[in-house]
Amino acid sequence: MSAGAVGYAKENAGRFLEELKTLLRIPSVSTTPEHKGDVEKAAEWVAAELRRIGMEHVEVIRAAEGHPLVYADWLKAAGKPTVLCYAHFDVQPPDPLDEWVSPPFEPTERNGNLYARGAVDDKGQLWSQVKALEALMKKDGKLPINVRVIYEGEEEVGGERIAAFVRDHPERLKADFALISDTEMFAPELPTLCVGLRGMIYTELEVRGAKTDLHSGMYGGAAPNPFVALAQIIAGLKDREGKISIPGFYDDVKAPSAEELAAWKKLPFDEEEYREKEVGASKLVGEKGYSAIERTWARPTLDVHGIVGGFIGAGAKTVIPAKATAKVSMRLVPDMTPEKSFRQYKEYVEKIKPEGVTVEVRLIHSGEAIVIGTDNPYVKAATKALKKVWGKDTVFIRSGGSIPIVGDFERFLKIPSVMMGFGLPDDGLHAPNEKFHIANFHRGIESLIEFFDEAGSL
Ligand code: BES
Ligand code: MN
Ligand code: MN
Repeated sequence: MSAGAVGYAKENAGRFLEELKTLLRIPSVSTTPEHKGDVEKAAEWVAAELRRIGMEHVEVIRAAEGHPLVYADWLKAAGKPTVLCYAHFDVQPPDPLDEWVSPPFEPTERNGNLYARGAVDDKGQLWSQVKALEALMKKDGKLPINVRVIYEGEEEVGGERIAAFVRDHPERLKADFALISDTEMFAPELPTLCVGLRGMIYTELEVRGAKTDLHSGMYGGAAPNPFVALAQIIAGLKDREGKISIPGFYDDVKAPSAEELAAWKKLPFDEEEYREKEVGASKLVGEKGYSAIERTWARPTLDVHGIVGGFIGAGAKTVIPAKATAKVSMRLVPDMTPEKSFRQYKEYVEKIKPEGVTVEVRLIHSGEAIVIGTDNPYVKAATKALKKVWGKDTVFIRSGGSIPIVGDFERFLKIPSVMMGFGLPDDGLHAPNEKFHIANFHRGIESLIEFFDEAGSL
């Protein structure tokens, strides 16, 4: 029973944290080719640990391209439901490096937190799953539920491999529900289930002008400047009120239900405090008539992540660059689709581009938005487990972030997902000084033990 497993987790808490540090020392950045071997190393390490705790059929699954998946199962709980456990072992790049108080791949404890790239997103949460399984296995010699594990090494770059695997081998992931450990709690001490994620299209715009870089004195005034053109295109995508100008872009946006909106109003949230403490800007921006919560959870947005090219060294160089590139993404909400949104965007960019330049609009990756129903026994088991550990009723939230595979679990595996995560709003995902609150790591493990137990007795 869970009491024994929770006791085991408490006795071994120190070792669990040290093991997490070992995983965090592997710089498994999925987007940079230099780190390909490190993503591989993280996969091998996680697979070895799954084997060590007694999981079966552990396999590092590789495709011709991209990063590996890790699969494992334990299917000996006859007559019990099956859970599909999901998390990812790749991380975002750590830059800007000089803003880290301690180096991103040297996990460091400070005031109750563990600082490292990937601490909360998502290695710490992946590790809480593995440790919950270990505690149950070691204490009881078996699991209270059938378990399949699928971990991916390229969530942060769109998750193409796992999507293909789900499409091609649904039978290998056959389960009654999925457990996603890659989200946050709404506030400290407030048990939370995430029930909605935004989708996204991540694109690159490449603008070309002259056939080669040119002297800006000899040609300036006559030759088109791709950076100016790019700035004009970007400025045309969104108005000053934060409304996206792409024709038809909002056509399929489905408003949240009245109940959902009412529930969001009751959440402990102070927009002014969010502005000051979390965002740290002088003013929040966005569409008129929507709260910050609505803007980030239930409205599409468009952001620019970087502009590349031209002269960026110290000092001055008088050049008209031949090309300029920008990384532009849009977050989508139900019922928008990546295909239609990308088409609308591409056509609009081509239409508003100034004369004298060409623009190539490339799609890097995309994923669907999802809102999941809460009316199923697995969600009930989850709230029951959370109540046991945190002593409070669970709040249901959406998140503005994206986890592309969750929509596919519903579409291709036809199973509901329980998104139970233990990150905190100030954990700094994707930012310098990312952290995981150590108490949440341990209570996350306990919560998962209780959840496996509850779901197993359904
Ligand atoms: N774990 C995040 C998504 C997330 C963040 C969910 C906060 C809930 C709360 C995930 O690792 C992530 O960052 N996803 C990327 C997806 C993208 C690159 C396809 C994102 O949202 O930018
Ligand atoms: Mn994540
Ligand atoms: Mn992430």
